[in-house]
Amino acid sequence: MHTRQAFIDNFADLPELADFANTAHWLSLRGWSEGAGGNMSVRIDRKITLLRDIPSDDYIQLPVHVPFLADTLIYLTGSGTRTRETALNPTQDVGLYYIAKDGQSYCWLAGNSSPTSELPAHCAIHNALAEHRPDDKAIMHTHPANLISLCHVPELANSKAVSDKILRLQSEARLHLPEGIGYVPHQIPGSLELGLASAKLVNVHRLVLWHMHGCLATGTSLAHAFDYMEVFEKCARMYWTLRAAGIDPVGMKEEDIVKTLTEFGRLDRYT
Ligand code: 13P
Ligand code: ZN
Repeated sequence: MHTRQAFIDNFADLPELADFANTAHWLSLRGWSEGAGGNMSVRIDRKITLLRDIPSDDYIQLPVHVPFLADTLIYLTGSGTRTRETALNPTQDVGLYYIAKDGQSYCWLAGNSSPTSELPAHCAIHNALAEHRPDDKAIMHTHPANLISLCHVPELANSKAVSDKILRLQSEARLHLPEGIGYVPHQIPGSLELGLASAKLVNVHRLVLWHMHGCLATGTSLAHAFDYMEVFEKCARMYWTLRAAGIDPVGMKEEDIVKTLTEFGRLDRYT
């Protein structure tokens, strides 16, 4: 049995906050999350039973039904929070929430109490992850310029084209991301449509590019999600460096990619 007061009392000591602080620090250093750009969440799959110290009026309807998150906890960054500040003071910028037994509503438990405007996406994606890829418990969304710039090249603005072109620029990129990059055509930031379209893609993809907006990564932790974003961003940086030098890179030969993936037992995830 848990009470809200117990969560408030122990909030600063909860281990997940260090993952938020460290990842926010690096997001800020990389310049990927400008201003209040980007957001993060971590799901705790363990079922909990709340004592009845939370008034029913405190429950807020979720924009999406999340049966796989029922009776669990989720950490979300607050709307408008800056990564450079989250790094220093995670207890102020990260909030902890309980998802009700029916998977249709949630309530605040501790920390920041104004969840990210991308709450529909985080909830829909965690629900899909809990069902299909339960090891991935963290979601990171950010706005790296080299990745958003790829959306400005019409022939790269889809999942297959951007994966084929960009992930063949470095021999280990496909090993980390054999399933390629998911791609969501333009949707309004914070919309349920953006969340539902992304949730469909995370069944397969660890990274999802949001057209003209930014990118989303999943991982076992936020640090792990950051790793995948780094791999993709490195390749995109190489792409723009080569383009600036007047080279349209061809990248690795298909047979070399297949040979590498076969050697590491990842070919079955290459689509
Ligand atoms: P929040 O500050 O509400 O998390 O929004 C930032 C963002 O990047 C929306 O996509
Ligand atoms: Zn964003």
